[in-house]
Amino acid sequence: MAQVRLVEVGPRDGLQNEKAVVIPLAAKVEFIEALAAAGLREIEAGAFVHPAKVPQMADSDAVFETMKRRAGVVYSALVPNEAGLERALRARADKVAVFTAASETFNRKNINAGIQESLDRFKPVVARAAEAKLPVRGYVSTAFWCPYEGKVAPNQAVDVCLRLRDLGVRELSVGDTIGKASPNDVRALLEPLLKRVEAADVFLHFHDTYGMAVANALTAYSEFDITGFDASAGGLGGCPYAPGASGNVATEDLLYALKAEGAEVPAEPLEVARAAAALERHLGRPLASRLSCMARA
Ligand code: HMG
Ligand code: MG
Repeated sequence: MAQVRLVEVGPRDGLQNEKAVVIPLAAKVEFIEALAAAGLREIEAGAFVHPAKVPQMADSDAVFETMKRRAGVVYSALVPNEAGLERALRARADKVAVFTAASETFNRKNINAGIQESLDRFKPVVARAAEAKLPVRGYVSTAFWCPYEGKVAPNQAVDVCLRLRDLGVRELSVGDTIGKASPNDVRALLEPLLKRVEAADVFLHFHDTYGMAVANALTAYSEFDITGFDASAGGLGGCPYAPGASGNVATEDLLYALKAEGAEVPAEPLEVARAAAALERHLGRPLASRLSCMARA
């Protein structure tokens, strides 16, 4: 039975786009601890980015300091540059993630750098992380569609993946940042990508704007043997620099679908939905996942 490797990105990708309210530190910590208690084994707990750019992540240092860590759980963080890595090292993150994109315009808006410039910035980050024995993942945003440039050619996304691998980044997270991809887009990218990179090194990161994320993940799982997925409990999320992007695929909905497909999943879907439920009172709205109504019952 294939084992799903789920990277829970709710505390980072999920919360970063919540601009209307500042989620209190204690609620973030409670959320992360509940996700680990539900059985999730890798949690992206924060981002060491410029605090003015993503205010909801400004307290990531305090989140790492405060949360109780469970043995066997990897607590990772997003880092855009060496300053971010320094913060991640001080916070004792178990793993870091650098992030670039397959389209120039998105990358400039997101991290104020072109693709090559961002890769140049990552070089010392990856080297320093290796010295500190920290695993590094590399995100490739807008791998299917860009909010500014439209459809992204698969070979353009593959090229950025390979350039990250040349830097020594083994694990790739390939992102449908604006949630616009459909199964045919997934096939068109995975066919050339998996000729160059093993399926075990590829995670797919689907947002769910058009409601296609579960279909996309099932396509990748059943046709291409992809078992690595990113998701956000409750379907929280989005990217503040991607207009129109809605939340990530909900972890509980994705786990339900993969389990129904015969995969072994790391957590019970309803347990994950319950882990996110406490956030509703801070957000002032119901969570977007399909299973969240059952968690409330
Ligand atoms: P910049 O302005 O070009 O940076 O921003 P800089 O190096 O010129 O520095 C400017 C100021 O920022 C300086 O402070 C630095 O110290 C400070 P000042 O001297 O003006 O007081 N600074 C920092 N402070 C704290 N932590 C740091 C840091 N770095 C510099 N790490 C930068 C470049 C990348 C920093 C900025 O653009 C940034 O932080 N962007 C963050 C964007 C972001 O977080 N986007 C959302 C995450 S990506 C995403 O959601 C997509 C993903 O989910 C996958 C998908 O869905 O596709 C991953
Ligand atoms: Mg994202």
